[in-house]
Amino acid sequence: MDAKMQGMLLNFVLASFVLLSCIRGGTAGITSSFIRSEFPAVDIPLDHEAFSVPKGYNAPQQVHITQGDYEGKAVIISWVTPDEPGSSTVHYGTAENKFRASAKGTVSNYTFYLYKSGYIHHCLVEGLEHSTKYYYKIGSGDSSREFWFETPPPVGPDTPYKFGIIGDLGQTFNSLQTLDHYIESGAKAVLYLGDLSYADRYTKNDIGLRWDTWGRFVEKSTAYQPWMWSVGNHEIEYLPHLGEVDPFKNYLHRYTTPHLASKSSTPLWYAIRRASAHIIVLNSYSPYVKYTPQYIWLKEELTKVDREKTPWLIVLMHVPLYNSNSAHFMEGESMRSVFESWFIDYKVDVIFAGHVHAYERSYRVSNIDYNITSGSRYPKPDKSAPLYITVGDGGNQEGLASKFLDPQPEYSAFRESSYGHSTLEIKNRTHAIYHWNRNDEGKKVPVEAFVLHNQYWGSNRRRRKLKHFLLTVAEEVADF
Ligand SMILES: *[C@@H]1O[C@H](CO)[C@@H](O)[C@H](O)[C@H]1NC(C)=O
Ligand SMILES: *[C@@H]1O[C@H](CO)[C@@H](O)[C@H](O)[C@H]1NC(C)=O
Ligand SMILES: *[C@@H]1O[C@H](CO)[C@@H](O)[C@H](O)[C@H]1NC(C)=O
Ligand SMILES: [Fe+2]
Repeated sequence: MDAKMQGMLLNFVLASFVLLSCIRGGTAGITSSFIRSEFPAVDIPLDHEAFSVPKGYNAPQQVHITQGDYEGKAVIISWVTPDEPGSSTVHYGTAENKFRASAKGTVSNYTFYLYKSGYIHHCLVEGLEHSTKYYYKIGSGDSSREFWFETPPPVGPDTPYKFGIIGDLGQTFNSLQTLDHYIESGAKAVLYLGDLSYADRYTKNDIGLRWDTWGRFVEKSTAYQPWMWSVGNHEIEYLPHLGEVDPFKNYLHRYTTPHLASKSSTPLWYAIRRASAHIIVLNSYSPYVKYTPQYIWLKEELTKVDREKTPWLIVLMHVPLYNSNSAHFMEGESMRSVFESWFIDYKVDVIFAGHVHAYERSYRVSNIDYNITSGSRYPKPDKSAPLYITVGDGGNQEGLASKFLDPQPEYSAFRESSYGHSTLEIKNRTHAIYHWNRNDEGKKVPVEAFVLHNQYWGSNRRRRKLKHFLLTVAEEVADF
């Protein structure tokens, strides 16, 4: 992007911010008048090129990577070989076609009803350099395949980094637009908000098959940059009539997270640090009330957040805590009553959720005074509260959630029932630029764009401290 474009974009962003600041002063939020014209919410047919199988005997497919440690110096590379186990070794290096190093992974297979999975490989590649492009090769002989990824910069308070946010993607033509628009955004990693393939909308062996097609569908992004996974209700797949009663079975075999690095006992919730962000991933569908593992883990993890190193504190979950759509209304209430006061005490910047197939952003509100006898039933404006943003609009086969509560509740700042994705571009410890992009009949349209001020570094006391820090830096530069 040239300087002029950048200037124009900044003006646009600032103008939007002014607009939003005005809106925030008023009472009611906005319900967008945009109506997405009907577009079939049907899955892409099996023979479509979006699901194409790579050529060659036993060629690796469904390639995806995720962060492999707490700090971003490792990745986990996963793929499936269809015909035989083959090799679980990843060859990698910093120059194309020169794979100086290798790492050995694991292979496993499983059944789901009568479906037999391919051979699923997971390989941890660790000890990487920061801010480096790595090339990697998997598979063997003529069927081997090569990809690349970039490691993030070291964890640090003013490290710029651009995240994408996608939820409830599925595998329709709308999903394909979301994915293509996301790839155009230039973001470096995805924070995924649960509900991946929607394979559980099928039955019997088609469930496993639709997990495979989804893995091939997203490969054009997932093979090249890490997607940080969280689970939704469509991953549970508790299907006793098929004899399948282990929750998250397909998901857990295929997708993996660096949960041990944050001392979590399960891949279903975990935390990572990446650039200037500390990202906490929760599971709406495992117990979280007091005394449960998830509760105990989160309590401990929050104490490890160091805003001097990672100013940005981001939480991901599937079920939104603030939602004014009639779809899934109040489903987040139980988790809200358990965790909301922590999110406020720790000044979480933003909580992203999916589940509701629409877009919604809250004001900074809290409802922590509520208890069953207090009578204070309504959320109140609260400067220490996170923003709650629902990005469940990836485009799956269930279609859009178009019935919003009327009138719009006071906690809801903006809502629109259409498909899209978000990006969060962190500039430094105080500023990040947030975008929500709608898929408008194939075009990518930025609808919301504003500057997000950091909740920790934005307070007056710390602003003064930061000013002092900047003066010190200026003096040091002058001395030099
Ligand atoms: C895994 O694959 C082997 C063949 O390589 C097969 O014998 C075995 O039954 C498979 N296991 C499952 C659980 O499908
Ligand atoms: C319930 O809320 C009220 C008002 O916030 C508070 O005074 C009271 O102590 C709370 N009750 C309990 C048992 O925490
Ligand atoms: C942070 O970034 C914003 C937007 O680019 C800029 O205006 C501000 O001066 C930066 N602050 C620091 C401390 O670098
Ligand atoms: Fe969901």
